Amino acid sequence: MVIFGASGDLTKRKLIPALLNLAAAKLLPEQFAIIGLANIDQTTDTFRRYLTDEINRYASCPVTPEMWNWILKRVYYIRGDFQDPKAFEQLKTQIAEVEKTHNVAGNRFYYLAVAPRFFGEVVRQLGAAGLASETNGHWARVVIEKPFGRDLDSARALNIQIKQILEERQIYRIDHYLGKETVQNIIIFRFGNGIFEPIWNRRYIDHVQITAGETVGVEKRGGYYETAGALRDMVPNHLFQLVSLTAMEPPISFQADAVRDEQAKALHAVQIPSPEEVLTMAVRGQYGDGQVGDEHVAAYRGEPGVAPDSTTETFAGLKLRIDNWRWADVPFYLRTGKRIASRATEIAIQFKRAPFQLFRDTPVEDLETNRLVLSIQPEEGVSLRFGAKIPGPIMHMGAVEMKFNYVDYFGRTPSTGYERLIYDCMTGDATLFQRADMVEAGWSVITPILDVWKALPPRSFPNYRSGSWGPKEADDLLARDGRSWRRIE
Ligand code: BG6
Repeated sequence: MVIFGASGDLTKRKLIPALLNLAAAKLLPEQFAIIGLANIDQTTDTFRRYLTDEINRYASCPVTPEMWNWILKRVYYIRGDFQDPKAFEQLKTQIAEVEKTHNVAGNRFYYLAVAPRFFGEVVRQLGAAGLASETNGHWARVVIEKPFGRDLDSARALNIQIKQILEERQIYRIDHYLGKETVQNIIIFRFGNGIFEPIWNRRYIDHVQITAGETVGVEKRGGYYETAGALRDMVPNHLFQLVSLTAMEPPISFQADAVRDEQAKALHAVQIPSPEEVLTMAVRGQYGDGQVGDEHVAAYRGEPGVAPDSTTETFAGLKLRIDNWRWADVPFYLRTGKRIASRATEIAIQFKRAPFQLFRDTPVEDLETNRLVLSIQPEEGVSLRFGAKIPGPIMHMGAVEMKFNYVDYFGRTPSTGYERLIYDCMTGDATLFQRADMVEAGWSVITPILDVWKALPPRSFPNYRSGSWGPKEADDLLARDGRSWRRIE
């Protein structure tokens, strides 16, 4: 495994802890080694020391000396500039040596934990150095972190660029949401059970709400966030994964392309809004100061690296239409924001009312409809709301909830969310990685919104208080359809 940008946060926070979990689960082969490459003055020794100093902070399992030494003696470092061919020659020599020392047969994967502007260049240099070719039956794969492009044109251009060097099957575009157990569980829930699929359509479902709320602000990432905004940062990638898994047709098998074909089809069915439609299907917001928990927090415009008159959105809300037989007239409402009242990511499937109101005496507010919630985080589970008779001599109905919680059933499994993705890349299973057409389908929907938002800068920012559920415009988006957002406690 070669990590480009090994001195960055991702390596110490996620990749090394994930490798440790894989090693603990005996899912790494003996013939395995890691080479880190970055443009920071380190040696293999100092890099090993740096990782040792950090591991206890980020490991999600207890770190035994034996396990840690197993990893550490397989770690190497080279200093190099991603734009300098010499760095790649050096890498080639180092790979040859390390492969000999650790008896590695010649399979390699390159993890691009680098700034997006280097993605194309690193792949080009890998190609030029002959490191991307698959010779003698050995594979070479490239893992690319997000963001993959910043709009449709740049995503297309990047796909064209890297495909000059790599075959699609060598490219593993990561979306860390797909590393989450509960996201993977959507597939099992829908297609491993016989009882949900028959009602998973426009006859029974009124609408779908997908929420990704964060209580944190932009933290130290103001510089990056100013160039991204909530829509780019979360929607075409993470939220669209949730949309496609919820909306897709059953795949004909669990082969990577069978699953991804269906996901891509669902994404292609999402209607691309016209500029006029953008005005009514998309809303944005930016947080002002406010109270999050016990803490008084600053407005976005007061965060480090953020312009005092910034028009970057920290909240985005959308109403999507999926035009196919299954979902016609069933809106998918999406919302994501920073400094929201609660950290909660979930998919709520709101069912239609029973066709005939038999219990007319029940107060209307108690006649809630059936709702299925797939909770992704921090709570991981599934809950179903249905009506039940309130005990007593009179026939009254109330809403009750049946809940399945992952931790109660399975306990806690140490996980960073990257184990499965790294493991799948090594075993050549690309199911949980984004294919070029999926990425481009996502950007096709989002780019018109970005264009309209750019042309019409917001005048009302900041328009929601930190610690609230976002701007009033988000409530209006559903209110126009006679609906409201689910209240997440
Ligand atoms: C990242 C975004 O991709 O996902 C962040 O860049 C966001 O802004 C994060 O906070 C959310 O991921 P998670 O796993 O915490 O929901």
